[in-house]
Amino acid sequence: MKIAVLPGDGIGPEVTGAALRVLDALAIAGIEVEEGDVGATAYRRHGLPLPLDVIDMARGADAVLFGAVGDPEFDTLPRNLRPEQAILGLRRELGLFANLRPAAGWPGLEALSPLRPELAREIDLLVVRELTGDVYFGAKGERRTEAGERQGWDEMAYGEEEIRRIAHTAFRAAAGRQGHVTSVDKANVLETSRVWREVVSAVAGEYPGIAIEHMYVDNAAMQLVRSPGQFDVILTGNLFGDILSDQASACVGSIGLLPSASLGERQTAYGTFGLYEPIHGSAPDIAGTGRANPLAAILSLAMLLRHSLGRDAEAGRVEEAVGRVLASGLRGADLGGDASTEVLTAAVIRELVQPDQGAA
Ligand code: IPM
Ligand code: MG
Repeated sequence: MKIAVLPGDGIGPEVTGAALRVLDALAIAGIEVEEGDVGATAYRRHGLPLPLDVIDMARGADAVLFGAVGDPEFDTLPRNLRPEQAILGLRRELGLFANLRPAAGWPGLEALSPLRPELAREIDLLVVRELTGDVYFGAKGERRTEAGERQGWDEMAYGEEEIRRIAHTAFRAAAGRQGHVTSVDKANVLETSRVWREVVSAVAGEYPGIAIEHMYVDNAAMQLVRSPGQFDVILTGNLFGDILSDQASACVGSIGLLPSASLGERQTAYGTFGLYEPIHGSAPDIAGTGRANPLAAILSLAMLLRHSLGRDAEAGRVEEAVGRVLASGLRGADLGGDASTEVLTAAVIRELVQPDQGAA
């Protein structure tokens, strides 16, 4: 089993380092780990945010563990050299079209949510975001208007097959959850969304046991803060999914706790090839201070074990260990506590290796 680890920028190396220590503690035989540079780190060392040999390394692996990219120092570089191109390029080059972003509250953390605790407690949803199409990857550019002004433009388009395959991902996920899909679009305005809605409806017909609801994105944003408990699986496109998944994670209380998986079509010997990353970014303001919350990266490792390596039991053990650490009251700085990256990581490992004597 081969894992490509791409730590990236800011707190990326700290949190992927923590996840690798947890992986070591699991002592799964036959796992090989390779590391590569991405983002601003790669730009500094190699002049490119996503070197070609890193793409090859990722392709040759069964799974990718990704930290974070982004560095304010490079915000003014041309778009194709910016650190964010590393993650966008990997998604495109590796065909990672299905982004799974679970958001569920942890018992005891309701008070951290900006929502009332009784609303925060209801949240248990999965955003299934299409990840390789939409306005993100359409043609784009700058042109002159007749008046001679500069005008930026980006093409938004979705093809039937692109929509169909992500819809299948969402319906299959719903079958293992509460059996409810909310497809989010802007079909009252966009042609892209009209086709989206028609294709999703057709796919829904193949899943008679799953309830399907269509919702405009503005309404979905409102419902997400008004009554988040109504959502099970949210199926949506790349741009709306980007926005709604941040909103959903804020509703839960801490973005520092949320993992994500980006899956492609390729099957490995053990599962589905995928890239796993915490939802939080590179957080340059706290990089190097030892205060990064490693739990989202550790939970991303759990998703990796489950989806790409077929190691459900170990994935469950990691998630339970994290749950016990949180239940013990240990909190990182992002949760209003003072536990360092080191303390949190050590606590998870302690819970893994001797769950009966730990903090819980
Ligand atoms: C995310 C991020 C990325 C995106 C950025 C870093 C390009 O916000 O993974 O949600 O917009 O997809
Ligand atoms: Mg985002």
